Amino acid sequence: MGRFYATTPIYYVNDAPHIGHAYSTVNADAVCRWHRLAGDEVFFLTGTDEHGLKVARAAEEHGLSPQEQADRTSARFVEAWELLDIAYDDFIRTTEQRHHRAVQALLQKIHDNGDIELGTYEGPYCVSCEAYYAEGDLVDGRCPIHLRPVEIFKEDNWFFKLSRYQQALLDWYEANPDAVTPESKRNEAIGLIRQGLDDISITRSSLTWGVPVPWAAGQVFYVWYDALVNYVTAIGYPDDEERFEAWWPAVHHVIGKDILRFHCVYWPAMLLAAGIDPARHVHVHGYLLVGGEKMSKSSTKLTAIAPADLVADFGVDAFRYHCLRNIAFGPDGEFSYEGMVARYNADLANNLGNLLSRVSTVVDKKCGGTGPAPSPDSPLATVAADVVAETAAGWERVAPSDALEATWRLIRETNAYLEAHEPWKAEPGPAVDAVLGDALEALRIVALLATPAMPSATAEIWRRIGLPGAPGDNVLPAAAAWGGYPGGVPVEKGSPLFPRK
Ligand code: ME8
Ligand code: MG
Repeated sequence: MGRFYATTPIYYVNDAPHIGHAYSTVNADAVCRWHRLAGDEVFFLTGTDEHGLKVARAAEEHGLSPQEQADRTSARFVEAWELLDIAYDDFIRTTEQRHHRAVQALLQKIHDNGDIELGTYEGPYCVSCEAYYAEGDLVDGRCPIHLRPVEIFKEDNWFFKLSRYQQALLDWYEANPDAVTPESKRNEAIGLIRQGLDDISITRSSLTWGVPVPWAAGQVFYVWYDALVNYVTAIGYPDDEERFEAWWPAVHHVIGKDILRFHCVYWPAMLLAAGIDPARHVHVHGYLLVGGEKMSKSSTKLTAIAPADLVADFGVDAFRYHCLRNIAFGPDGEFSYEGMVARYNADLANNLGNLLSRVSTVVDKKCGGTGPAPSPDSPLATVAADVVAETAAGWERVAPSDALEATWRLIRETNAYLEAHEPWKAEPGPAVDAVLGDALEALRIVALLATPAMPSATAEIWRRIGLPGAPGDNVLPAAAAWGGYPGGVPVEKGSPLFPRK
């Protein structure tokens, strides 16, 4: 038992939520749900990033004020997360007063400490990234991420003396070997630091849509230095010290690889400069690739796919399951409709759905619809114990795909156990009861373990096998110990939970 604080990136409100945003958010949500199930006190934060040129330009295109653009699009993220059963504890918007206060307090502190200085900056800037690039980072003179033309920006503004933090960052990463997962992304972060760090321009005089710089009238903070601070705003910085210290620095930031530099280089340096411990964990996943094409931030293909389009065809639980199981957290992964159908049919229709329907059908036929109790010495008991441990380990290391793979082993072994004993062919009696009781107990444990991925479907399994409340009311691992299914309860023969596609 402990505390678990997790965050998603806060998403830009220039455009609607797409499956890339959903991927990060579902992964973070499921990990948080696992921790709640494990008895931890959880704080799960998501939200929207509302300032900056990108949002100001989108507003202009739509004939809206930036605030109207932010209000409308932020509401679409709230809606999408409701659709996807995202159980966040707080949804932060960077236009909120509490956030302005936190940004100003944190950056004022760095300024007071002497690490923010005045300078002039000129260089290629990508508005879609909201970032300056070094000439050497450009690809054919274009932004390396969007492959769009960059613009040359020049302004007098304030610089964060990042160059002073190279050694401090390397020392910090040395002392915190598990700070970035997976390992390949940690190496990438350390590589960026070793290359040498330039000071970074953190204010803008050319823009008004941002948080005002307290010591320089007419300037606002550059959107990234505003945005990163959301992670401390939401836990009470700077006013509620007690709350802040309860949750910080043991945070888990879930992000995509496109924003690794901001989270693994700039953010820890800013925190060190403000006298705050850097975030302890950053979990970096790859890009979703659609149709094999590498997706960039601006890809029209990927951004054209709204989570709602897929939820309409597959249901919310299957969509969540696909995000978690089919695209391992870390490397890039293929996202295709055909892949979704294949995974759905194999894992949900044929494995889990089939187990539930055959067990409930045979209990109806051979046991008069009353579920028998499991046997204490069932061969499935040892399988279940291994599966519970492996599933827990997977969730703990933010590897949802491994966790679910482990859970599905219990489903497969239970189906094999039923096929070996063929209770549907046998005469009713103690032998049939024992086999079915074991299968019901396995289903109960699967429902518990799969709850973080599929909160609704697992609650429905729970109800159909006659259990009170919902799987999420229980605490693991105790609740997943073999023998918890009481027997003597009504089992419902319902329609297929996951009809074949
Ligand atoms: O970068 N595959 O916001 P953003 C997987 N506001 N994940 C993807 C993805 C893809 N193809 N495309 C986007 C910003 N994502 C800033 C963040 S945080 C302080 C500020 C996900 O709307 C992934 O999590 O561009 C990526 O990091 C994030 O959306 C970028 O969202
Ligand atoms: Mg982006």
